[in-house]
Amino acid sequence: MIYTVTLNPSLDYTVSMDGFELGRTNRTTSEQMLPGGKGINVSIVLRNLGFESTALGFTAGFTGEQIAREVQNMGLCTDFIHINSGFSRINVKLKDYDGTEINGMGPAIEPNYVEALHEKLKQLKAGDLLVLAGSIPKSLPAAIYSEILMRLQNRGILFVVDATKELLLNALQYKPFLIKPNNHELGELFDVTLDTREAVVAYAKKLQEKGAGNVLVSLAGQGAVLVDETGTVHMLAAPRGKLVNAVGAGDSMVAGFLAGWLEKKDYEHAFRMGVAAGSASAFSALLATGTEIEQVYASL
Ligand SMILES: Nc1ncnc2c1ncn2[C@@H]1O[C@H](COP(=O)(O)OP(=O)(O)OP(=O)(O)O)[C@@H](O)[C@H]1O
Ligand SMILES: [Mg+2]
Repeated sequence: MIYTVTLNPSLDYTVSMDGFELGRTNRTTSEQMLPGGKGINVSIVLRNLGFESTALGFTAGFTGEQIAREVQNMGLCTDFIHINSGFSRINVKLKDYDGTEINGMGPAIEPNYVEALHEKLKQLKAGDLLVLAGSIPKSLPAAIYSEILMRLQNRGILFVVDATKELLLNALQYKPFLIKPNNHELGELFDVTLDTREAVVAYAKKLQEKGAGNVLVSLAGQGAVLVDETGTVHMLAAPRGKLVNAVGAGDSMVAGFLAGWLEKKDYEHAFRMGVAAGSASAFSALLATGTEIEQVYASL
C-alpha cells in the first residue's frame, strides 16, 4: 500500500481577473476551488495511473471537511485526522499573475494530534511506501519528518521524501528510497548554483553518500536527472510541449516515478514515467490524467 502525508492540506481558490490592483476591489472572471497539498497531488496522479493510495494528514473545520470530501469524490482513500479547532487553510492563487498567491497558515496542531498520526503510521508494513511531501506548518515541530522516519526505520517501509533544506538533510540518515529535489533545492544545500543536468550529478551523489537511495533531480523545462541507487545516471531533456501550468509538476513526477517502479521494478522506466508525468502536468491546466501521461511517455 502507498500512503501519502499532507500535514497542511488546503483548498486552493484559483481565480482569474481582468487586471489586479492593490487598494481596489478586484473582481474575478473565473474561479475554481480544488483540494491542494503535495501529498494529495501525489495521490491524485497515482490514482490517474491506476495505483491506489491513502492520503493522510490533518484537516480542521468546514474547509477541512470539504478537502476530505473532495479527495474522496476523486476516488482516493483518505484517513485524515480531523482537528477540533481552527480550520484548514484556503490558498488564493492569482492565475494570470504566475506565482502570486496568498497562502493560509492552517490550524494549530497540538501534540496529541501528532501522536495520533504516529499511531496511524504504525499500521504500515514491510513493502509499503510512505510519501512525505511538502513543508511543515509552523505549529508542528520542525523535526516531525525525522521523528516519523525514526519511528518507522528498519521495518522494510520505503520512504519517499520531497522536502527542502534541513528537512531533507535530516531525513537522509533514514535511507529514503527516493528523494526529489529540484536543481535549486539541491544547489541550496551546498551553496552552489546548479543550472545544467550535468552539474547536478555530483551533488546528487553527495546526497547518496549521506544515505539517499534514488536521487531524482528535476530541472523544470530542462528535464531531469536520476542517479539511481546502483549509481547509474539517467538523463532526459524535458519533452517539448506548451507550458500551461507547472504547479504540481514535481508532485506528478514523484507519482510517475513510483508508478513506473511498481510496474516494472526498473529505474529507467520509472525515471521516464516520472519525467512524462511531470511534463504532462506542466502541459495541462490541472494535474495530468493517465492518458496525457502515456502520450508524453510515448514521445520520449
Ligand atoms: N516548462 C516545462 N516544460 C516541460 N516539462 C516541464 C516543465 N516544467 C516542469 N516540467 C516537468 O516536470 C518535472 C518537475 O518539474 P519541476 O522541476 O518544476 O519540479 P518542482 O520544482 O519540484 O515543482 P513543484 O512546484 O511541483 O514542487 C520536470 O523534470 C519536467 O519533466
Ligand atoms: Mg518540488
